[in-house]
Amino acid sequence: MVRGLSAQLTVLKLGGSVITDKEKPLTPNLAAIERLAKEISRANVSPLVLVHGGGSFGHPVAEQYGLSEGYKDSSQIMGFSITHQVMTKLNKLIVGSLINHNIPAVEVQPSSCVVTKAGRIQSMEDRPLRKMFEMGFVPVLYGDVVFDSENGFAILSGDQLVSSLAMNLDARRIVVGVDVNGLYTGDPKTDSLARLIRHITLEELKNLEPLIEGSKVTDVTGGMLGKMFELKPAVEHGIQTIIVNAAEPNRVYKALKGEKVVGTVIER
Ligand code: IPE
Repeated sequence: MVRGLSAQLTVLKLGGSVITDKEKPLTPNLAAIERLAKEISRANVSPLVLVHGGGSFGHPVAEQYGLSEGYKDSSQIMGFSITHQVMTKLNKLIVGSLINHNIPAVEVQPSSCVVTKAGRIQSMEDRPLRKMFEMGFVPVLYGDVVFDSENGFAILSGDQLVSSLAMNLDARRIVVGVDVNGLYTGDPKTDSLARLIRHITLEELKNLEPLIEGSKVTDVTGGMLGKMFELKPAVEHGIQTIIVNAAEPNRVYKALKGEKVVGTVIER
């Protein structure tokens, strides 16, 4: 029964750059959160799992304490706690907004159910998630600090989580919401010649990689290149993947509904 359900599963990622103001530490973009909750409610897709990023909540704190290299000394211990705490604050805003729009959202803390090994997901307790889908809940996960069997702890990006969830739960498709229209041949924020790629295969992506710019603002998990690296295994697995601009009204709605929308479709 659960397998049948999850064959229809949609995994939606909301990038930290959309739901927060990436230039101002610990500043949510409440208008964007509210609009996206409305779009998700209107699209009414089920089953659905949501994963959101850290933006100006997780990234600056994780960087301040040097968490991305794993445990080095005891001064990082408080840094782990604070990074997790700020992520739960951001998560509460999103879950709250979804509930206000009548979506039965439930927070799922990655730090409590995922263990990584050298930064890669080693195990995940997914039984509560499966039960949630069966009962019609919308679990909401996020990029988080997690415990790591080799390095003490690690930063788990929302993108790695998206790919892993989609593959393990046999999702039908992934919608990734970012703050640009999709994948470009350069950095659209600094290069006026950068062109939006509407459709790309994994083979074509390989040739393009040297051109894709890393993100300029603090991003401890690797910008657009890191995103593509994480999404690739899910695409290889045959999961339809689309990147859309979640900062633009209705793009996430259309992508969730499977309607034609500006963005980048990535296919095997
Ligand atoms: C980062 O998550 C989480 C932490 C730094 C703790 P993501 O890497 O998914 O966040 P965004 O979407 O790039 O902001």
